[in-house]
Amino acid sequence: MAWNIRELMKMCKFLLLAILFLPHEVTSSVLTVNDRTENYILDTWLGSQESLKCAVQNHTREEELLWYREEGTVDLKSGNKINSSSVCVSSISEDDNGVTFTCKLQRNQSVSVSVVLNVIFPPILSGDDFQTVEEGSDVKLVCNVRSNPQAQMMWHRNSDILNLEKNHQVHQTSESLQLSITKVKKSDNGTYSCVANSSLQMETKDFHLIVKDRAVTVPKEPIIAACIVVFLTLCFGLIARRKRIMKLCIKNEDPQRETAL
Ligand SMILES: *[C@@H]1O[C@H](CO)[C@@H](O)[C@H](O)[C@H]1NC(C)=O
Ligand SMILES: *[C@@H]1O[C@H](CO)[C@@H](O)[C@H](O)[C@H]1NC(C)=O
Ligand SMILES: *[C@@H]1O[C@H](CO)[C@@H](O)[C@H](O)[C@H]1NC(C)=O
Ligand SMILES: *[C@@H]1O[C@H](CO)[C@@H](O)[C@H](O)[C@H]1NC(C)=O
Ligand SMILES: *[C@@H]1O[C@H](CO)[C@@H](O)[C@H](O)[C@H]1NC(C)=O
Repeated sequence: MAWNIRELMKMCKFLLLAILFLPHEVTSSVLTVNDRTENYILDTWLGSQESLKCAVQNHTREEELLWYREEGTVDLKSGNKINSSSVCVSSISEDDNGVTFTCKLQRNQSVSVSVVLNVIFPPILSGDDFQTVEEGSDVKLVCNVRSNPQAQMMWHRNSDILNLEKNHQVHQTSESLQLSITKVKKSDNGTYSCVANSSLQMETKDFHLIVKDRAVTVPKEPIIAACIVVFLTLCFGLIARRKRIMKLCIKNEDPQRETAL
């Protein structure tokens, strides 16, 4: 009996080990991208080209590989799938910044290595260069910015830091620098420069604000009243004329009546 229990325990131990190690051996394949086994961030530059080589290590059989750009699969040529696979990202643009490339094992897609592109580029500024606004109304100058690393942003006027007045308000987000001006004055007319200073480069964009005279506003009520008066006059005129026309007709009828008699 004791011998049987020993045998049983041995069997159990063996089974346990088998369960622990068998699947492990099958999935022991390890992936590398450019010889790295961990996910990583790749610093790169505008217009450059990056080659990413994915390879299986310690595999016992042929392994098919998959490449993803974000969530989408990358089309791979038939000779570029087995055991190792390379993708090339060329003429890298600002839009590639933050994009993730992932190499996966086709057989077990939880085996993967990801590379996130960190595209370094100087500040790019955009916005509405010319705005014409009536004195007394509100206006917003919006300077859109894209930059990596992030730029320090500020408004300049007459080649100096903008002296914020009571009707000025500056609002900054990671995507833009805004200047809101309420009740625009004649003295707000001029050129405002959006300045972006990153560790790479300083970039400036001019925004021209043209303040025009307040348009002479014609009050609406007297115009409407005048229209009504003109309309009524015309109506009465017509009615009066109709009476006269009717009178003429009646007059014309009279002689006929006389002849009938
Ligand atoms: C491959 O296997 C060898 C020996 O088992 C081990 O030393 C090495 O670290 C493994 N390589 C990887 C990338 O896991
Ligand atoms: C892939 O690797 C396996 C195991 O090392 C090997 O048998 C097979 O020939 C390789 N195939 C290619 C196309 O390199
Ligand atoms: C897939 O690989 C992961 C990580 O190596 C492993 O934990 C998991 O058991 C594997 N799944 C299958 C179905 O082989
Ligand atoms: C208003 O600003 C514009 C743009 O800077 C400039 O061209 C124009 O001469 C200015 N007008 C006046 C009256 O200051
Ligand atoms: C721009 O930033 C650099 C350091 O990053 C600094 O030396 C320089 O004075 C800044 N320029 C302006 C106009 O703020």
